[in-house]
Amino acid sequence: MGNKWDHFYKKSYAQRLQLIADLVGLSDAQLQLIHQNEDQVSGELVENNLTSYPLPEGVVTGLIVNGRHHLVPMVTEEPSVIAAASNGAKLLSAGEGIHCAIPEKLVSGQVIVKHAEIKAVSKFVETNRQQILNIANQSHPSILKYGGGAQKVAVRELSPTFLSLDLSVDTGEAMGANIINTMLEAISNWLSDQLQVETTMAILSNFADEEVVEVTGQVAVAKLASKSLDGRQVAQRIADASEVAQLDVKRATTHNKGIMNGVDAAVIAFGNDWRAVESAAHAFAARQGVYKGLSTWQVVGDQLVGEMALPVPIGFVGGASKVLPLVAVNQQIAQIHHSQDEMQVIAAVGLAQNLAALKALVTDGIQKGHMALQLKSLALSNGATTQELPAVLAQLRQIANPNSQTVKEILKTIRR
Ligand code: HMG
Repeated sequence: MGNKWDHFYKKSYAQRLQLIADLVGLSDAQLQLIHQNEDQVSGELVENNLTSYPLPEGVVTGLIVNGRHHLVPMVTEEPSVIAAASNGAKLLSAGEGIHCAIPEKLVSGQVIVKHAEIKAVSKFVETNRQQILNIANQSHPSILKYGGGAQKVAVRELSPTFLSLDLSVDTGEAMGANIINTMLEAISNWLSDQLQVETTMAILSNFADEEVVEVTGQVAVAKLASKSLDGRQVAQRIADASEVAQLDVKRATTHNKGIMNGVDAAVIAFGNDWRAVESAAHAFAARQGVYKGLSTWQVVGDQLVGEMALPVPIGFVGGASKVLPLVAVNQQIAQIHHSQDEMQVIAAVGLAQNLAALKALVTDGIQKGHMALQLKSLALSNGATTQELPAVLAQLRQIANPNSQTVKEILKTIRR
């Protein structure tokens, strides 16, 4: 007799749910929650579908990128992220706003070859570059109609036996994973036929160093003053904080996490693959062999100037972006019409997010602003209902370092 979990994906939705409910003892209320969030679209997107998992979405205000105002939808579970991004956007938008440039937008991929005579393979690839580009384009001709196509071939000898053939492709408005993977597999087959070599794999690279957004923003130091520090002192402390992120991997990781708070939230709102953007960002941060902060801040005259280069490998069309109905709404809210707009807006949010976090860290400390907004989540996660929230928050605000126990005690009193 087969295991009841075999071919789980072939069972009906009701059968799948029943199997899980029987195994773990889901209550009627839990089953209702699962049902309530289940929708057909998610059923088509993922395998063994159970339900849809809603995350909060908010909007960043005040972002100016290359002279245009954008509202940016962000999907995140973390309180204070959207407030901080809006705070950073407001600071950076007081002058000319944020400037972004995208020097090139090419998706790259690799065919890995293993051979005893790797130099001979390398030479073969170099002398047949045009033929390799032709094979790539013939394998996916529709991309040529959109003005894209395979553009570059390079070889890197990884060891005396392994070689990477690197292909760079203009995938137009698409993220391009399927396009480039089709091309790479065609090249891989051709190489195997021509040279009787063993190709280990053919796959896009998430390194994305040819999809980098260069982003700069500045704020007058006078605008940074806090209760106890003047603007120039705050600006210098932000510059110092960014220097530490260049010196120390422990700090660099947290510095970059702060940037990705905004980047990921916007990437998710636009229906893109945030794992691709995450892996590209962190690999890029370590591209010189040492992991460093992705952004730097410097005091220049009476301005605090921030700079960041960030790979943003996303697509404006295709993938989940055309299946999840909210993506089109979010693109409209953000007033973005092309992949390059989207890349720029995402990177700009990252810089704004970083500025707000650094400013908080070097002035009041993160807990003040973050915890003020975290209180709601603290109350809800400890059992407060939305009706009880105002009364619980009013009491929590009076307490220096509230925790779960504090919420529980407040709830007890209120409910009495
Ligand atoms: P504040 O100075 O109290 O705010 O900041 P304000 O009242 O002066 O408002 C300034 C602007 O912030 C507002 O302008 C809004 O744009 C925005 P206005 O619209 O009023 O003209 N703002 C809000 N937007 C929406 N909802 C709100 C709200 N409040 C202000 N409720 C704030 C308060 C939380 C913004 C500030 O303390 C801050 O930016 N903190 C940083 C918080 C943060 O980074 N949170 C992420 C989680 S911590 C983390 O994961 C990253 C980290 O580890 C990264 C790192 O180490 O580098 C910190």
